[in-house]
Amino acid sequence: MAGKTIVLGVTGSIAAYKAASLARRLMTEGATVRVVMTHTAQRFVAPLTFEALTGHPVGTDLFPSSSGEVGAGGARSAGPPPAVNVMPHLALADGADLIAIAPASAHCVAKLAHGLADDLLTTLVLAAECPVVVVPAMDGGMWTHPAVCANVRTLRQRGVTVLEPEVGPLASGRVGQGRFPEEDAILSAIFGALCAKDFRGRRVLITAGPTQEPLDPVRFLSNRSSGKMGWALAEAARDRGADVVLVAGPTSLAPVPNVAYVSVVTSEEMRKEVVTRFPGTDVLIMAAAVADFRPARPAQGKVPKGRDVRTLALEPTKDILKDLPPRRAGQLVVGFAAETGDLVARARGKLLDKALDLIVANDVSEPGAGFGTDTNRATLLDRAGRCEALPLMSKHELAHRILDAVLILP
Ligand SMILES: Cc1cc2nc3c(=O)[nH]c(=O)nc-3n(C[C@H](O)[C@H](O)[C@H](O)COP(=O)(O)O)c2cc1C
Repeated sequence: MAGKTIVLGVTGSIAAYKAASLARRLMTEGATVRVVMTHTAQRFVAPLTFEALTGHPVGTDLFPSSSGEVGAGGARSAGPPPAVNVMPHLALADGADLIAIAPASAHCVAKLAHGLADDLLTTLVLAAECPVVVVPAMDGGMWTHPAVCANVRTLRQRGVTVLEPEVGPLASGRVGQGRFPEEDAILSAIFGALCAKDFRGRRVLITAGPTQEPLDPVRFLSNRSSGKMGWALAEAARDRGADVVLVAGPTSLAPVPNVAYVSVVTSEEMRKEVVTRFPGTDVLIMAAAVADFRPARPAQGKVPKGRDVRTLALEPTKDILKDLPPRRAGQLVVGFAAETGDLVARARGKLLDKALDLIVANDVSEPGAGFGTDTNRATLLDRAGRCEALPLMSKHELAHRILDAVLILP
């Protein structure tokens, strides 16, 4: 979010105090944060809190004071103010890369849905052309009220990102859906809304996670893949406008919102799903750690503890990439190579052997890289001979670098 200006709208919800922590978090991510508060919000938290945290004046009024102090709308100048200085909603709207209203009261959601503009926040939303993210927080009964549901629908149809409040204990003492979401979920929505939509119209198929190959009905062979890299790719491709299908082996990760999810267990199940879906795909990214071997003769019943099992007969699984139907012109295939040495040479060999367009090679023996971690260090090699060694970075960031590399494939 470095270099981005986010207008953070705070409204009269009991969750208004959580916006202070959100403002800090956005700043930690590199954003400049300009806070605008409704009059009701100021009954819950003082503007001074946000002013001190963000280092900028807080916008509270549509009509600036005669001294030229226009809240968050512009600089305090000695001379005659330029036109935008007496119209802070325009200055804020012009300077914003994104408006996030968090928390958004039911009242604010209604005003936004109906285009009302009776305060600084709602007026600047009408004046702005940037993406808007709305984070409602209210009592459960309010969230499920037909009027609120209709207003949320209207906003979503208009392209506004409206997050789902979380389910849990509410300030009223009841339990229901209405809680201010976790900061990570809000940040992910903001990040997604800020992304360039350079994958719009592309159908992206991503595999993720391990596969499990049964020894008997209760035991299996598997690997240490957590699925995090594939998940990050699915989120990044979705945020960049792609239609994403995620075919995943068993992981502990929650499904990615707005991504079609196909759950598989064995390498054979994954192969069938990928081969069937490949013709309707523009970009296939094979981030799954598919088993190379499986038990040759899995037992039908549980093998008893006392049985003398000294050897395990294995057979190779089918290579999914070699089993794909013939490619259409323009179809792209990205593979992964998890190695423990001689990284570039092995990855280059795989790239050629499997006729890949791009391969993401990582040394899984390196600290911070590979299975289970939130970070990865990878080298990208493409069929045109490009070889880019990337530094250690989050899987989220790496996912975007991989998509960037896909976009520039010749
Ligand atoms: C103690 C208290 C807590 C409130 N909490 C919420 C809330 O969490 N969500 C909500 O939509 N309204 C809540 N309200 C009602 C709003 O403050 C009220 O609808 C107000 O008009 C919102 O104004 P605004 O949208 O201009 O900020 C609360 C009211 C009180 C008195």
